Amino acid sequence: MDTVHITSGREVPVPTLPTGVGLTALCTAGERGTESRRPDRLFEDRVAQLLTEVIGESPRTAGLPGGRLLRGRAFMRDVVALRTRFFDDELRLASAYCRQVVLLGSGLDSRAFRLDWAPGTEVYELDRGDVLRFKHSILARDGEQPRCARVAVSADLRGDWPGALRAAGFNPWRPTAWCVEELLPYLSRAENDRLLSSITAMSAAGSHLVADHFDTALQRSVSFSATARVLHAVGAAWRSTLEAPDGWLAPYGWSCALTDPAELAHRSGRAVPGLCGPHTGGDGHMWLISAAR
Ligand SMILES: C[S@@+](CC[C@H](N)C(=O)[O-])C[C@H]1O[C@@H](n2cnc3c(N)ncnc32)[C@H](O)[C@@H]1O
Repeated sequence: MDTVHITSGREVPVPTLPTGVGLTALCTAGERGTESRRPDRLFEDRVAQLLTEVIGESPRTAGLPGGRLLRGRAFMRDVVALRTRFFDDELRLASAYCRQVVLLGSGLDSRAFRLDWAPGTEVYELDRGDVLRFKHSILARDGEQPRCARVAVSADLRGDWPGALRAAGFNPWRPTAWCVEELLPYLSRAENDRLLSSITAMSAAGSHLVADHFDTALQRSVSFSATARVLHAVGAAWRSTLEAPDGWLAPYGWSCALTDPAELAHRSGRAVPGLCGPHTGGDGHMWLISAAR
């Protein structure tokens, strides 16, 4: 097995990397790891930092078709940082009254380990088996402890994931905070409709949903088109866009508020990411969605 030195000086084996859409989890974590090293960081993700040490130095990674993707998409780095902070803040607010939190397509999200959850909070993480196995192998070597009751559930989000979630202890009668970060583009419109329908059916009054997506105009922008080609090449193609979040969510009984990434950038004292805002010359939208019912 290949090994890699991590900063503690230990030499550790490189775990088997996820494939296809599972690889995208590593990209997001990589960008969070980079953000965590900035002096003016918007959050600190120690698990992501450890992951980047393993990913970044792995000889296997260098040979992957998605190597370019894994080395980071510079234009996305600020977007991921701002978006992560947005989701953190929304989930902190929601957790004041939701003691169940579900991360759909959880990837290498380490919120169970880094946010201060109220006592009694249960955080469910749903993703593919290969992603969860990779994450567990990283967590096991670092000895990170969750700050909540953490339950990992292996499930295909196009299938009977609600059954798997309930079997793992989820209670649909309690208010839930749903975290759907960087997942919707990887599902088709019909699959997203089914996903939202299932979320809604398991959302007691007082539930909260945080999600993101982008519209067709943004997908056609130069930066996004280049990323789309790389994603397609590694078997992780984007399969949908979203033109009007409110029009999608309202029929399911969700009222939503949208946050502009450019506004977040101003609030955080960051430059507006290159692909957002009027100066890009495009009229695309990245949606940061906060919804309640
Ligand atoms: C870009 S990553 C985002 C991960 C995480 N939400 C985060 O913000 O760190 C997308 C994640 O969605 C997962 N995913 C995509 N399609 C899926 C499916 N059909 N079933 C389960 N997980 C899926 C991938 O495995 C990957 O971990």
